[in-house]
Amino acid sequence: MRALAVRPGIQHSAHIAELPEPQLDSIPDGRGVLVRTLQVGVDATDMEINEALYGRAPEGFDFLVLGHEVFGVVEAVGPAVTHVKPGDYCTCTVRRPGPTIYDLIGRNDITGHEEYYERGINLRHGFMTERWVDDAEFVVKVPQGLKHLGVLSEPASVCAKAIEQAYLTQKRLQVWEPKLAFVMGAGQIGLLTTLMLRLRGLQVFTVARTPNPGMKEEICNAYGATYVSTKETSLDDLVKRVGKPDLIVEATGSSAVAFDAMRVLNINGALVWTSVTGGKKTTEIPSDVINLEWVLGNKLLVGSVNGNRHHFAQGLADLALGEVMFPGVTSRILTTPVNGFDDPQRIMTLLGDSSQLKVYIKVAE
Ligand code: BGC
Ligand code: ZN
Repeated sequence: MRALAVRPGIQHSAHIAELPEPQLDSIPDGRGVLVRTLQVGVDATDMEINEALYGRAPEGFDFLVLGHEVFGVVEAVGPAVTHVKPGDYCTCTVRRPGPTIYDLIGRNDITGHEEYYERGINLRHGFMTERWVDDAEFVVKVPQGLKHLGVLSEPASVCAKAIEQAYLTQKRLQVWEPKLAFVMGAGQIGLLTTLMLRLRGLQVFTVARTPNPGMKEEICNAYGATYVSTKETSLDDLVKRVGKPDLIVEATGSSAVAFDAMRVLNINGALVWTSVTGGKKTTEIPSDVINLEWVLGNKLLVGSVNGNRHHFAQGLADLALGEVMFPGVTSRILTTPVNGFDDPQRIMTLLGDSSQLKVYIKVAE
């Protein structure tokens, strides 16, 4: 069986590898789910892995199969599996358990272990293959009515977790009623977070570099948010105009922006960092001013990564509600389908082209 793989540590090594066909009974206790891949989304993480900034091969392999945003159809299930059956659409979580208490309670997304195991990213092969198998515990059903957005399940889970983390941690305030939010970045995470915050009734400004007019602006407006290009309006000018946000979700992929966002958060606000920055860049920050304002303003910074099956369910519920509130808008994120994964160079080139919003591979019809 063919797979799209990289050699971790070697730059631009994306290539086609051979893998044995996955076996249902390789998963113990009849808990296996065998899935035929329909679509796999790719994102900046795949690009960073191909640039050797990030990612490791599973033990015993010198390659890592890519793909962590999967949408597929169930082909067969073991006797102990009850929540999906052959013919159902599904997606799959990314992290696999480590040895800590969090992993034991199904919270692999907050493992206490330094090492983490992620399909398609770190120490576990991904889904960029014709078929794959996994434990029922990690397979999430995608409703028939959402199949056109199924490939966004994983990114949606990441956004759902980020927002959940803000609301959970802000319980420290006893009353938190955020009204104004900034979303930094208008890639898939920025746009889906914009949708989810609009669904929760917040006024949302989505801030990114891409100049107006364009698709990002159109999608944000269609969600009832406002797109702000930093080419035209600086972050400080935006704050002068609309005030300081109670919530900021940062998803630009730039650590400089992540730190810069600290300057503009409102008193009692929450800033959620979601960018995974594989490089080694450094940046200068006005640390005295930020430190003072954060202490005097009781502000909160929370990092959020990955999502467990509960976040996948929430993400799918939000995608569904999004279709009711803003029909047809979310599909517009899916700009760039690629037929098959046999041209890895082309996939990587498209990923590097900022005019493509979402690149995803159609593995099968
Ligand atoms: C994935 C997450 C993963 C993170 C860190 C992201 O691109 O969407 O599931 O936890 O990378 O590796
Ligand atoms: Zn990702």
